[in-house]
Amino acid sequence: MERFNASIAYDQRMWSADVRGSKAYVKALQKADLVSTEEMNSILHGMEQISEEWAKGVFEVKSGDEDIHTANERRLRELIGEPAGKLHTGRSRNDQVVTDMRLWLRDSMATLKEDALQLVATMVERAAVEIDVLFPGYTHMQRAQPIRWSHWILSHAVAVSRDVERLQEIRTRVNVLPLGSGAIAGTPFNIDRELLRRELEFDDVSINSMDATGQRDCVAEFLFWASLCLSHLSKLAEDLLLYSTKEFSFVTGSSLMPQKKNADSLELIRSKAGRVFGRCAGFMMTIKGLPSAYNKDLQEDKEAMFDCFDSLHGALQVSTGVMSTLQIKRPVMEAALSPDMLATDLAYYLVRKESKNIPLNQLTVEDLATISPLFHRDVASVWDYTSSVEQYSAPGGTAKSSVTAQVQHLRKWLQAQ
Ligand code: ARG
Repeated sequence: MERFNASIAYDQRMWSADVRGSKAYVKALQKADLVSTEEMNSILHGMEQISEEWAKGVFEVKSGDEDIHTANERRLRELIGEPAGKLHTGRSRNDQVVTDMRLWLRDSMATLKEDALQLVATMVERAAVEIDVLFPGYTHMQRAQPIRWSHWILSHAVAVSRDVERLQEIRTRVNVLPLGSGAIAGTPFNIDRELLRRELEFDDVSINSMDATGQRDCVAEFLFWASLCLSHLSKLAEDLLLYSTKEFSFVTGSSLMPQKKNADSLELIRSKAGRVFGRCAGFMMTIKGLPSAYNKDLQEDKEAMFDCFDSLHGALQVSTGVMSTLQIKRPVMEAALSPDMLATDLAYYLVRKESKNIPLNQLTVEDLATISPLFHRDVASVWDYTSSVEQYSAPGGTAKSSVTAQVQHLRKWLQAQ
């Protein structure tokens, strides 16, 4: 049971948040006259030492240390003796654990935001450099219309930019202080929660102690966010995997793994999406049907949270690596454009009508005039891929002016982040 119950193997990742929470809490205890100034200083000093031990990798986890909270408290008692016990006055592991998690998640989300911004910036700059490259745009995996390669890149950049915005919205709900909620009912002591909020740099103080200790929707939201973001990276990876096959040959594998023909990095990015969706679904199953307030089932939140962070942190960094080192084969891309993409419907019509067996762009004006008197000499301009993409100059289109506007929009957006 001891082994089954213990979470220390993984929740020790939150050691820094746990120390930080305790240091803030002892200040509130001192303010409420529940510990003396000497006791506070002794606890602060002990916590400092614990922090150093963790940072140096010399903190010794002992059997019986159930989780990071009990481990740090046990060590504090070894270091400073009795006053250690007072740190728990009015505090429960129920409000402690969720405080630690919110602190950890807040910092980790900042890391992911940086990762995502780097990816967007890399894609935007690449799109700007390669703006003149055209290639086929696919719908239903069939060549549909000529588009700019940069338009394709930016379609992924824009999705990731929305992930960054979503992350910021989630942060407002993560960055709320639960400490001072006790086990379920709140604190009977004169704990200054506003002081705790300031010390721990939370934006708000939780408004209901049962909710604060028993809910994990901010974790669930993070897991969903990570899943959605990975679905975007997975789409990017899947496109590139296709484009790197011999059949397409639009891109060649990144120099991340020059010895490999198959793009392992892309397959791994794609695979992480499945893994993270699983974590999200699994945790939703865990919280479904729980009664109110803290239940030990909630201990499951941490592995899901850590694993999603690690997976996404890796996937974002590797995506940035791929997008900055990938090489395109422009001649192959442009050779893949075919006249039928310029007027598919017309092509089918003509193919049925005329059994001439020649490419569409070789039909004479006289041939075309048998279809419609509206065909004139200027029909020749249709057979130019650049003028085809240049028609799409409305905002969001694939014309050069429009893609340039997208680049400028995202550059501005990046600066505002
Ligand atoms: N390790 C526990 C968790 O991760 C901490 C809270 C334990 N609280 C309790 N009343 N058993 O959820």
